[in-house]
Amino acid sequence: MALIAQLTDPHLRDDGADPFHDPAQALRHAFAQIAAMDITPDAIVLTGDIIDRSATGYAHALPLLRQAPVPLWPMPGNHDDPAGFRIALEGWADFAPDHLSYTAPIADLQLVALDSTLPDCGAGLDRARLDWLAGVLGKSQKPILLALHHPPFTTGAPHLDKPGFQNADALLHLIERGGVRRIIAGHSHRSMQTIWAGCLSSTAPAIGHGLSLSLSGAQRHKPARMAPAFELHAMSPKGCVSHQIDLEQGSD
Ligand SMILES: [Fe+2]
Repeated sequence: MALIAQLTDPHLRDDGADPFHDPAQALRHAFAQIAAMDITPDAIVLTGDIIDRSATGYAHALPLLRQAPVPLWPMPGNHDDPAGFRIALEGWADFAPDHLSYTAPIADLQLVALDSTLPDCGAGLDRARLDWLAGVLGKSQKPILLALHHPPFTTGAPHLDKPGFQNADALLHLIERGGVRRIIAGHSHRSMQTIWAGCLSSTAPAIGHGLSLSLSGAQRHKPARMAPAFELHAMSPKGCVSHQIDLEQGSD
């Protein structure tokens, strides 16, 4: 079995002006809860928006990430700075040359961390990323955990669905060839689950602020006070079970 903690969207600021709670403290508490689990997770996958756009660089974030109690696999999101991310996190993973995707073994799984933030900051995959993914999927002998920042599926929330995910259909066709067991994403700052491309696919609640939900799109999409949480994905040949882990009361 592989046990993976998914943390997402801490939006670490460097000005202390956090809207609802201190995400750095929430991240430290998440690390402490992971370290105290009766079965230690094999890895943490951090599915993007490590820093907030308000922050300049990664100097405030790196010391925190280094406190992770198990191997941590960092991914970029639309609030990250791709050039700064590549420099700051050099050596953490074998990043592709023209985007920040990579693959890494976790227990008996293969993590495929797919960079879904396009150069224009939109969500999706360009030709280079699709070709990279096709090559990776074709080579892997292990079940694959596919992680992205943006959910590639239709969420039912207009503020997410209207911008869309470029080339979602091409991604779906690649996944339908087989090999991918589970799809995880961030970006929504909320928990969502669906079946997409034949896989259980989900987004996780954020370590940073929450985001409001309007299914009609009539209400403004805005930061919201939500308890920070993370997800724990247990994956074995028998199946995949995911648990939402709320940070302990008072830990934010
Ligand atoms: Fe975010």
